[in-house]
Amino acid sequence: MTSDAPGRILEMLRDRQAHLSGAEISTALGISRSAIWKHIRSLRRAGYQIEAKPARGYRLIAVPAHPTQWEIQAGLGTERFGKDIYVFPQIDSTNVVAFRLAMRGVQEGAVVLAESQTQGKGRVGRRWESPAGSNIYLSIILRPKIPPTKIPLITLMAAVACAEAIEEVTGLIPTIKWPNDLLTGEKKLGGILTEADMEMDVINFVVVGIGINCNMTRTSFPPSIRDTATSLQEALGGEISRLLLIQAMLRHLEQWYTILVQGRGGEIRRRWKELSQIEGKEVVVSFMGTVLKGTALDIDDDGVLLVQEGGGGLKRVVAGDVHIRG
Ligand code: BTN
Repeated sequence: MTSDAPGRILEMLRDRQAHLSGAEISTALGISRSAIWKHIRSLRRAGYQIEAKPARGYRLIAVPAHPTQWEIQAGLGTERFGKDIYVFPQIDSTNVVAFRLAMRGVQEGAVVLAESQTQGKGRVGRRWESPAGSNIYLSIILRPKIPPTKIPLITLMAAVACAEAIEEVTGLIPTIKWPNDLLTGEKKLGGILTEADMEMDVINFVVVGIGINCNMTRTSFPPSIRDTATSLQEALGGEISRLLLIQAMLRHLEQWYTILVQGRGGEIRRRWKELSQIEGKEVVVSFMGTVLKGTALDIDDDGVLLVQEGGGGLKRVVAGDVHIRG
């Protein structure tokens, strides 16, 4: 029995582009005819149209409109990221499910994706709008052997990876707003929520949750965020492929994560600064009722924002919302 029989069956059906007999599949994968039929039925349930003709075999007619684990994995080309992908039509939050899976020991690089979330989580307890069928809601499990103080760097590396993936697939170069917002112009395209399970000085695992507004239209944004949020489709004037974007995100995430665990945080910092253009800007940072005004000078090796307070000293900003003035 192969570990991913449905994926192998799909691969064979794609390569053949005509009928493929049950006997051929059975020989290639070493599984019984009834096992094949079971996998065909599960592929159909996932939205694949597969014809089954007596004496001729199976033929792939159409693939689902939404990204499935098999479509994502076909030609993905990563080493570890996306080797396990859990796709749900609807869940509360991909971060919550990924956290649960990580607790159960699921390996690094495993991905949770949902078509919609009923309780999508944003930063600082906010809600992340997660309607069905148009956006990307993705969480990935990481098990980095780095000190907990370096966790903010994970968010920065994820923002860099996502910005590069968006550019690769759509040509649009997003800017990053500290620490984790992906913007085009002044409007938010996506966000990242990093959650960790750790002890005093050891990280057990980290879940990086990424939401990208892909094909949402103006009217589908709730009024509360209509003026501040946008989607790639709205910015570019055409539908974008969520499948290609997810694949590119996983490739860039793997590449930048490798840089992170190799201790090359300086490279992440440099790239993040190029994409954020925050250096030297006048900012207002608000956090839990406090407001800090000053000039953004830099981010340090741990991803902390350094702000020169007007007439005051240098402040290290670990959390908060940044508003760039002017
Ligand atoms: C932010 O506030 O900017 C962070 C938003 C993060 C949203 C994503 S969608 C996938 C993952 N699951 C969640 O519940 N939240 C993150």
